[in-house]
Amino acid sequence: MNDVQKSTLAIYPGSFDPITNGHISIIQRGLEIFDRIIIAVATNSAKRGLFSIPERIELVESSLNHNDRITVDTFSGLLVDYVESVGAKIVVRGLRALSDFEYEFQMALMNRKLNRKIQTVFMMTDYRWLYVSSTIIKEAASLGGSVSGMVPPLVDKALRNKYGFE
Ligand code: PNS
Repeated sequence: MNDVQKSTLAIYPGSFDPITNGHISIIQRGLEIFDRIIIAVATNSAKRGLFSIPERIELVESSLNHNDRITVDTFSGLLVDYVESVGAKIVVRGLRALSDFEYEFQMALMNRKLNRKIQTVFMMTDYRWLYVSSTIIKEAASLGGSVSGMVPPLVDKALRNKYGFE
């Protein structure tokens, strides 16, 4: 074995509209495996956003304790091009239930077809966040439901503000 260990940089891409406890769990557990993680907020997602890109970045940054091993960035265009541009080779995605699998599998294979040097690594979600997604969080919050405990407190507050419940 070579003494010189290469530091591993992983990219965790997503819409993060907004960040949830499920995302945070993947980031925290990802740090057990990778030396550095760049959280890459997609700016050209097909999904119509609730929060603006600067708001999403702000919520991601304030939801995570400052850590030199984490960077928050944005990207537009192809994910694989972004990954290559920052000198990384690993994309991390969280997997919840079977329902995620088809889309994730399709995306991972397309990304692999586009750039064979980049590998997608899937991490299983913590069972506590199995049912949590940004989409379902927004639906519940938009109707006045409490999402406390599923998102960081400041995201909970931002959602209540957005939907006029505060
Ligand atoms: O949190 P999401 O919405 O599931 O994240 C999806 C995201 C942003 C990671 C994905 O849509 C993406 O990578 N978009 C950038 C364009 C791209 O490279 N698409 C995949 C190959 S066509």
